[in-house]
Amino acid sequence: MKTVISLPKIQKKKLPKGFEGDDNRFSETLVEYFLKEYTEKGDLVLDIFAGLGTTLFVAEEMNRVPYGIEYDETRWNYIRENLKHKENIIKGDAKKLVEYKFPKCDFFLTSPPYMSKNDNENPFTSYTTKGSYEEYLKDYVHIFSQLKQLMKPNSVIIVEVANLKKISGEVTTLAWDVTKEISKVLHFEGEIIVKWEDDNSGTSDGIYGYGYDHSYCMVFGNK
Ligand SMILES: C[S@@+](CC[C@H](N)C(=O)[O-])C[C@H]1O[C@@H](n2cnc3c(N)ncnc32)[C@H](O)[C@@H]1O
Repeated sequence: MKTVISLPKIQKKKLPKGFEGDDNRFSETLVEYFLKEYTEKGDLVLDIFAGLGTTLFVAEEMNRVPYGIEYDETRWNYIRENLKHKENIIKGDAKKLVEYKFPKCDFFLTSPPYMSKNDNENPFTSYTTKGSYEEYLKDYVHIFSQLKQLMKPNSVIIVEVANLKKISGEVTTLAWDVTKEISKVLHFEGEIIVKWEDDNSGTSDGIYGYGYDHSYCMVFGNK
């Protein structure tokens, strides 16, 4: 497995107008890359922060079976309306993962909701309640210890995450901090740096966003 990859930032799937200012999807190319690398046709693929469904839609297109959770009702509805396996996307809370009785899955890919160290809105309620960075990090242990039970033995779990650099220059080492928490319950196999190819969007915030041109895919094993 390469430890640095370069991918074009592409979204072929057009979103309905309501989501235009709220598009935090990862690129379909990222999902395609890892599904080719780690899965086969018929495998069960899970994303517990399904967002606007990129993992699930690409998995379905590649003849894998998608499963997911999404907290936000509007997003969940959008996925449900557009996914063939409609019953496999749950409107729920990843913190209650084991309650949803998913089958044991072969592969996991997600990008969690992000938080900067001085923010005070809880990402795990879609920023609708108060919370601290410390509590947010603790929740990863709670969520990923449940995930461990849902994944087949020796399955691969990938979390896409970035550090966050504000215009003021302040950096939240989110990628390191999240990895450290998840490593308490899953075996950390190493990071893959994803260099995002320039999409000519002309942003001053980095090609990826959050002040960066790259993100990390943190690879864990259910050993
Ligand atoms: C960064 S987005 C994921 C984007 C996704 N990778 C895509 O390409 O569409 C994170 C998602 O997690 C959802 N979320 C936040 N808290 C959650 C929770 N407790 N349980 C499940 N989903 C949650 C948010 O509503 C958001 O849609």
